Amino acid sequence: MSASPLAGKRIVLGVTGGIAAYKAIEVSRRLVDAGAHVVPIMTDAAQHFVGATTLSALASEPVQTELWNNPTTPIPHTEVGQGADLIIVAPATAKSIAAYRMGYSHDLLQNTLIATRAPVIVCPAMHTEMWEHPSVVDNIATLRARGVHIVEPETGRLAGGDVGAGRLASPETIVAAAERLLGPSDLAGVKVVVSAGGTREPIDAVRVIANRSSGKQGYAIAAEAAARGAQVTLVSTVGLPTPADVQVVAVETAAEMQSAMETAAGDHDVIVMAAAVADFRPSNAASGKIKKHDGVPEITLEPTPDILAALGGSKRAGQVLVGFAAETADLISNAQGKLERKRLDLIVANDVSAPGVGFAHDTNAVTMLRPDAKPVEIDLATKRDVARAVIDAVVDIRSAR
Ligand code: PMT
Repeated sequence: MSASPLAGKRIVLGVTGGIAAYKAIEVSRRLVDAGAHVVPIMTDAAQHFVGATTLSALASEPVQTELWNNPTTPIPHTEVGQGADLIIVAPATAKSIAAYRMGYSHDLLQNTLIATRAPVIVCPAMHTEMWEHPSVVDNIATLRARGVHIVEPETGRLAGGDVGAGRLASPETIVAAAERLLGPSDLAGVKVVVSAGGTREPIDAVRVIANRSSGKQGYAIAAEAAARGAQVTLVSTVGLPTPADVQVVAVETAAEMQSAMETAAGDHDVIVMAAAVADFRPSNAASGKIKKHDGVPEITLEPTPDILAALGGSKRAGQVLVGFAAETADLISNAQGKLERKRLDLIVANDVSAPGVGFAHDTNAVTMLRPDAKPVEIDLATKRDVARAVIDAVVDIRSAR
């Protein structure tokens, strides 16, 4: 299984003075979790918003703040930038963006930014009026033209209760941008559709037949494919945060999921069915609420369409079709049967009765089966690690063609 593209990378995290500085803590934590070595730098202003002690505790080494008398190194103004694989500035204020544009190296962060050949990600955060001011617009355009990667702010609640564009992008989005920059782009130009979550089949106006799928595994696959350059559509029954650069199509029932997947199959190169689709649904859902005083209802079930089998039957030349198998017994033989019957290129089998595996966990353990290759086992790992292994296999299948 390949490691995160951030593993072993030295990433300088520059924090400047905005209310969003608290989110830099979470950015740092996520980078460290992915195996990066995080070198934190805070400006004087940043320290008004979060304490250096907090960031030091969650980064890989103590926060550096000083250009002069820096206890870490006698030449901090070049050493930090020269040793970096990537620099992220989050949040980046209007002032720090202006200084970077001008090469105005008045503090440790600005020195680091101009004494590096590493890629730089700038994540602006400020009030809408500032974000839209011609000077900021011009500075951002200049940085972009120089190859600096800008993670655009989001629209939402700002300091003081204002609402508008300028809120720092989520830590997840910022880390995804880093992964995209440092990772392989082996799915560039490839269209991938992923299904995620459990379908909900109505019994009446308020009740459904559902299952325990949280959507986490499907979302992780969508995020990994996007990080590797794919154009990703995520057909989802759940409301997890949308991964960066992913288009979500919201659905609820098996019939809605089938329609969305069949539409996407027309022009997508890779299809991954990670969703837990109900195998049965009530044949006559009541339009209103079934009342308790009418007695216990008898619910007749009918089979739902097998979306994956239908996609296998209409697979286009060159299209890669990936299914999952959720089993509680005879994992390999059951998954092998599904691989063949549904005409799949890859099936990802998980024993959902094992601890930490399958539904709702943050972890999974799988065996990947292909018609033409040896089984690959992934021991208990995060769902993102499993997603990386699944996408590695997809890339391998595509390159063998
Ligand atoms: O969502 P999480 O909480 O992260 O959990 C992840 C997961 C356990 C849901 C995931 O890892 C998983 O196993 N997904 C497939 C669940 C499932 O429905 O497995 P199955 O063996 O019943 O179905 C086999 C395949 O056929 C699956 O790809 C399924 O999407 C597909 N299918 C099933 C029934 C149906 N009517 N139509 C289908 O397309």
